[in-house]
Amino acid sequence: MNPTIELIKSHRSIRKFKDQKIPRELLEELVRAGQCAATSNHVQAYSIIHVVNPENRQRISELAGGQAHVVEASDFLVFCADMKRSTEAAERAGADVVRGMTEQLVVASVDAALMAQNVAVAAESEGLGLCYVGGIRNDPAQVAEILKLPEHVYPVFGMSLGYPDQNPEVKPRLPLETILKEDYYDGSKDEEQIAGFDDTMHQYYLDRTGGNKDSNWSKELKPLFTTKLRPHMKEFLNKRGFGVK
Ligand SMILES: Cc1cc2nc3c(=O)[nH]c(=O)nc-3n(C[C@H](O)[C@H](O)[C@H](O)COP(=O)(O)O)c2cc1C
Repeated sequence: MNPTIELIKSHRSIRKFKDQKIPRELLEELVRAGQCAATSNHVQAYSIIHVVNPENRQRISELAGGQAHVVEASDFLVFCADMKRSTEAAERAGADVVRGMTEQLVVASVDAALMAQNVAVAAESEGLGLCYVGGIRNDPAQVAEILKLPEHVYPVFGMSLGYPDQNPEVKPRLPLETILKEDYYDGSKDEEQIAGFDDTMHQYYLDRTGGNKDSNWSKELKPLFTTKLRPHMKEFLNKRGFGVK
């Protein structure tokens, strides 16, 4: 067995943490590992805000829908897509820069996510646990204000990081053949394969909750698509100077 793949396949989100601090040197090492992720044109279009101020942690936890681990974890990081630093550097180098392109929004969001996932894997390799926190986009304008984010920088998600105080099961994923297509997109077996996956997830939820959660993958997706999810995002991103062109 390849220990790296084994580690990656043992990922599960951790939402309960021990009262134990991650040493500063280790935290910095995790971020350095994050920086080694591939990055579009070497642009490194991200910034991380390490939220240390306890009042700000509390406010962000509430804005994210009352997620206690944001406060309880050893550390909380906000991964931001950042097109400010790079466009300004190009400008200083003499470029007549174009800002606000939708492609730049994609580039910066992808860059931030790739670096975050490197941080996540590095953290797990050190016995730490983590939970991504997309909940910060419930009110991204207030989060941006708390973190004093300038224009052309937006908070993509947070990450609670610390020593796990729970040991949840690894959550099943879709069958490989559902997501890995040969040569072209063939969705003809999706319905059948998803029915099978719904059975797997139904059992997973029953086992995890002692029979209390009667759900499956398809049912869990319903709120995602029956409500307008975070309808403020377009205007928020546009105001920050993202995706206007
Ligand atoms: C970008 C992103 C945002 C997420 N936001 C939250 C969140 O706000 N709260 C939470 O409890 N989990 C959050 N998660 C965790 C997912 O719910 C979790 O990864 C998914 O259910 C799969 O479970 P696993 O990570 O245990 O395998 C987020 C995950 C990602 C990738």
